[in-house]
Amino acid sequence: MSSEAAPLPALPFGIRIAGTGSAVPDQVLTNRDFEKIVDTSDEWIFQRTGIRERRVCDPLKEGTFTLSRDAVARALEAAKMKASELDFIICATCTSEMGCPSTSCRIAGALGAAPAAAFDLVAACSGFVYALNVGESLVRAGRAKNVAVVGCDALSGHVDYCERTVSILFGDAAGAAILTRDTDTTKGCIYQSMGADGSNWHSLYIPRRPQEVAECDRNNGIRLGFLQMDGREVFKFAVTKFREVIEDAMAKTGLKVDDIGQVICHQSNARIIEAAREKIGFRHDQVYVNIDRFGNSSAGSVGLCFDQLMQAGKIQPGKPIIFVAFGGGLTWASSVWRI
Ligand code: UT7
Repeated sequence: MSSEAAPLPALPFGIRIAGTGSAVPDQVLTNRDFEKIVDTSDEWIFQRTGIRERRVCDPLKEGTFTLSRDAVARALEAAKMKASELDFIICATCTSEMGCPSTSCRIAGALGAAPAAAFDLVAACSGFVYALNVGESLVRAGRAKNVAVVGCDALSGHVDYCERTVSILFGDAAGAAILTRDTDTTKGCIYQSMGADGSNWHSLYIPRRPQEVAECDRNNGIRLGFLQMDGREVFKFAVTKFREVIEDAMAKTGLKVDDIGQVICHQSNARIIEAAREKIGFRHDQVYVNIDRFGNSSAGSVGLCFDQLMQAGKIQPGKPIIFVAFGGGLTWASSVWRI
């Protein structure tokens, strides 16, 4: 079951997205580069995924911590807010460098956010939207005034570049947003949903020890420490879930296709996005796609898209936007906002 619910009750205050920020590594890995590593082609990758290139970290100087720290720093700058004004930092990631401390605590330390509470959240590709919903709930409940949420994954350190089906999909990125309590009651989240189905966890997972290899993968020559994915299963799940989650959000809020300003969605595969766009009837300009340049950056993708849209002035005040994501877990989430 998911926590899909009725539209959120009106509040005596608004919740404003005060600023956004993002960070990607400089290093570009193109489809042509993959042609030199595995038996593949630019044509195959582009036709099956919509990807031309992705950004990957230089492991000696960057990773989940540096990308998410930089994204939060940029979001704070856009919000004209100091880190010391934050009440919470929530980092959604499944590629934290350390088990302890959390990446959020390291961000807080680096930016000077003490004594803000800081914790990580793992929801794979749904991470940014989960963090947005949790952050919004903290402000809504009166527990916080200012919350930084960031989604970041650096899966380049967790994919086997000798394996052609998984490695071509992923890139590294971080996207952040600052949520703040505001007197303008027209701004805020009007609906959110989150859900998970752990029975299919083995469709997308990173086993670290032999006993974590799923029964169905026992004879598949799994390399420990690397992302395992049943591409076809995830594809089927994503195509169905993407559409269901958007249709649920629209039905519960009464919003029609033309009411929506932007659908800001997880960049899983261009074919998955296009199938949902076409079925629901969104125009191309309502559904932002950057997977051609950044690949699938897991928890980083939705926040990265949001920041790029904000920078380009493509988010119109008053027109609702829908954030939507789905991925490992398996998990899914939506969040509908008036900005
Ligand atoms: O963020 C959420 C996480 N993941 C996703 O959203 C991924 C969802 N799944 C997908 O995007 C697709 O399943 C993939 C892009 C990963 C794969 O595309 P597909 O159309 O499902 O390909 P497939 O796995 O069914 O493989 C078709 C053929 C196979 O060859 P045979 O058995 O038909 O001879 C593969 O060996 O394509 C072959 N193949 C490749 N060929 C060239 C697989 N990867 C490659 C490759 N280059 N990189």
